[in-house]
Amino acid sequence: MNELNVVVDAAKSAFAAAVTPADLENAKSLFLGKSGRITELMKGMAALSVDEKKSRGASINIAKQAIENALTDRRRALADLDLQKQLQAEALDVTLPGRQRGQGGLHPVSITMERIESIFGSMGFEVAQGPEIESDWFNFTALNTPEDHPARSMHDTFYVEGGSATAPNLLRTHTSPMQIRHAVQHVKHYRSLASDAQANQELFSGDMPEIRVIAPGRTYRVDSDATHSPMFHQCEGLWVGENVSFKDLKFIFTDFCRTFFESDDLVLRFRPSFFPFTEPSAEVDIQFQSGSLAGRWLEVAGSGQVHPNVIRNMGLDPEKYIGFAFGMGPDRLTMVRYGVNDLRLFFDGDIRFLSQFQ
Ligand code: PHE
Repeated sequence: MNELNVVVDAAKSAFAAAVTPADLENAKSLFLGKSGRITELMKGMAALSVDEKKSRGASINIAKQAIENALTDRRRALADLDLQKQLQAEALDVTLPGRQRGQGGLHPVSITMERIESIFGSMGFEVAQGPEIESDWFNFTALNTPEDHPARSMHDTFYVEGGSATAPNLLRTHTSPMQIRHAVQHVKHYRSLASDAQANQELFSGDMPEIRVIAPGRTYRVDSDATHSPMFHQCEGLWVGENVSFKDLKFIFTDFCRTFFESDDLVLRFRPSFFPFTEPSAEVDIQFQSGSLAGRWLEVAGSGQVHPNVIRNMGLDPEKYIGFAFGMGPDRLTMVRYGVNDLRLFFDGDIRFLSQFQ
């Protein structure tokens, strides 16, 4: 191997050893720079004859060309490597699962509430909403439960600021205050229609349509275990007219339960009970005749004939008007319908549980 080939090989291996563009430029100056090996070889030709210069110069030029080619190749290789690295760093891993936009859905108890509203709606019941912060009057006193009544102790609740010492505000313990609120509005409305008609000498019989209403919503009691939570749901029902009876209550409630549970294979019983605002009072129990719950009596509502004092507080004459009321527990209905055994699951907010109802 001649001397020039040795220089070319030395340059090639120096270039190959360079891992950054700066390394490469340093290596380049060792061979092609001002005092680089090739430049030195050129300078060394000064003493040669003209003919010798020609052939020596040509050989050195070939070596120089070879070194420049090697340099260009290495530059390109380093640039490619750099690009490769950058692409790798910015790589998009398309095998990662995408972030899905979660699809929301109704809470099982909300599904039940909507179901109750639509079933009773189809039976001619209005739907009324009332306040959760209630006054003592609507929650207790107007419902025939005076201040010293022992039944109040079963409805221990949370008292909140805003009321007066004699009429404190509280979180309603049941939806029954809506019986009074709605009936009073209803009575007022038809009385004013009647008096307007009279004033304008228009024809209006003055007859008040029956009160048929349900009032679903949140209720509160100081109570907390696997089957009771301090906040729970109720749905009140009220039917007041001149000619209503327990058989109507039994008929609509049976019809409701059969529609709600999508089963005609279900019977209903009234079990004597006590509520200050109804007399007589009864718990409503249902029993499935087939399926996994067959044979067990399940309590689903309290009910009764509206007490004459309550009818009076509605602004109606108890000699003329008679009413039936019920209060059911949508949480319980939801548990029975879906076979849920722990009430607390409804309030944990666990997506694994909730998504099963969508
Ligand atoms: N308000 C009663 C309760 O919460 C239920 C009920 C409503 C009973 C209407 C009779 C009539 O226990």
